[in-house]
Amino acid sequence: MIHRILHLGEEALRRDSEPITAIDDKLRVLVVDMFETMHKARGVGLAAPQIGINKRLMIIDVDEHPLVFINPEIIRKSGKETCEEGCLSLPGLRENVSRATKVLANAIDLDGKSFEIEAEGLLARAIQHEIDHLDGVLFIDRISKARRIQIKRDLERLEAGETLESPDAEDDPDEAASDNEANTSGQHTGASTPALI
Ligand code: NI
Repeated sequence: MIHRILHLGEEALRRDSEPITAIDDKLRVLVVDMFETMHKARGVGLAAPQIGINKRLMIIDVDEHPLVFINPEIIRKSGKETCEEGCLSLPGLRENVSRATKVLANAIDLDGKSFEIEAEGLLARAIQHEIDHLDGVLFIDRISKARRIQIKRDLERLEAGETLESPDAEDDPDEAASDNEANTSGQHTGASTPALI
């Protein structure tokens, strides 16, 4: 089932999400729904709060290796890089965001097993971005206050449920398909059409 993705201004995006205590069929169905919802929206990452469920669950699929993270945590991070970021909950907005270059994270998978993942590039960025969602944090919280004032009008439009027009013709399916190909190469370096996470 495809869920509606919440947009800036909706309360669930700002809540601190609860840890998951049971891995059951209900959770497995939710994960399937989240992948469907994310793929339809042409995103490569989605956190449960983005569909109104305040549980510590997120999915990422940046290189055709779909990953499910239950109760994820970042253990270690290093380096710093600034890249343009987009988010399915702020459609059309792209801003430069500084994040750690590399992260080591752990989480539980759908079999209930704990795993560790070392990541860099887009995957590292996506892990940090999605964990932020679980803490009620959006990428606009990580840009300067001055910049937030500059884009105030855009933020108001997003809060009203609008999608910002982008110069990259996001509605063109061919364009979006080529973006996906670019993303699957893992060579995302902040090109004009950042992955939606
Ligand atoms: Ni996001």
